[in-house]
Amino acid sequence: MSFYIAGTGSALPEKVVSNDDLAQFLDTSDEWIYTRTGIKRRHVLTDERLADLAILSAKRALEDAQVSADEVGLILCATMRGDTFTPSLACAIGEAIGSHAPAFDLNAACVGALYCMEVADAFISTGRADTVLIVGAEAMSKLVDWEDRASCVLFGDGSGAMVLKKGTGRLSAILSTDPDTHTIRMPNIEGINSPYNKNPQEKLAMHMDGGEVYKFAVNAMGHCIEEVCRRANLTPAEIDWYLPHQANARIIEASRKKFKIDKSKVLLNISEYGNMSATSVVVLLDEYARKGTFKKGDRLLFVAFGGGLTSGAVIVEWNK
Ligand code: UT7
Repeated sequence: MSFYIAGTGSALPEKVVSNDDLAQFLDTSDEWIYTRTGIKRRHVLTDERLADLAILSAKRALEDAQVSADEVGLILCATMRGDTFTPSLACAIGEAIGSHAPAFDLNAACVGALYCMEVADAFISTGRADTVLIVGAEAMSKLVDWEDRASCVLFGDGSGAMVLKKGTGRLSAILSTDPDTHTIRMPNIEGINSPYNKNPQEKLAMHMDGGEVYKFAVNAMGHCIEEVCRRANLTPAEIDWYLPHQANARIIEASRKKFKIDKSKVLLNISEYGNMSATSVVVLLDEYARKGTFKKGDRLLFVAFGGGLTSGAVIVEWNK
């Protein structure tokens, strides 16, 4: 007995930036971005704070699950960087909803929401919590290098949330890391205050070797799909819905072809949001849950990869 998904929510910045908008200040085009990635537009933070989005998506998920703040036994936020180093985004969410539950942020890059699901599973299956609120929230526009056309065009900002309740639903999971500190790198503030620290400060912006990530992603997604199905005694054909990390439509298509997965089972929304890192699969889940796509008993397979290099997959039966 572990968890089922009891509710979902999401919140996105108001500002929408199209590929043509980017082409006004970058040497790029709608044609290049769309054909290489499947992205048409993305949401970008202006004067909102990331916490505003995280709180809104959390409230929407709690409302959807009909769960009150005092029922929440743990708040987890998947993010690479909140508005402040401390308090964490998870604490800001706790304050806004009026919860005293333990709350902390978890950074596993784009796989963060899946790592949170496994932490939630550990808390629920050992009796430490009955209800867990998971929020993915990323301000990618504050992390990317806006002079690097090969990476900044890929990302978007947003937040998604899900409420997990004790019950049956989670069928299997795999979390993995292929340690690599160069392929995707986002430096933190380092060595700028202390007279004893002579480390030069790296440029505070994302560096990414897109081609290397591409190769890793196709292999990692394939391995995770195979392994998570094996652990659940299922074949990839027995999965009803695939919810892949929305990094690049071509990466998703390559994994789909490898396992001869029916195209209609693979959920996509990358064209509207770009890559929102840890938030991607949660916003995707919320969007299709609200459309009524999932029926009771459907098997959902989440799969993701990202900086670290992290990867993972989780299979959950839809028992809402
Ligand atoms: O969550 C994980 C985060 N990371 C990823 O998911 C990244 C995974 N990788 C990718 O999605 C792809 O590798 C990219 C979309 C980043 C790049 O696609 P690609 O087909 O591997 O293109 P490329 O890097 O081989 O570049 C082809 C050309 C280059 O020009 P030359 O050297 O052939 O003259 C690039 O300079 O495209 C150029 N280019 C661009 N042109 C117009 C790179 N970025 C752009 C751009 N607009 N935005």
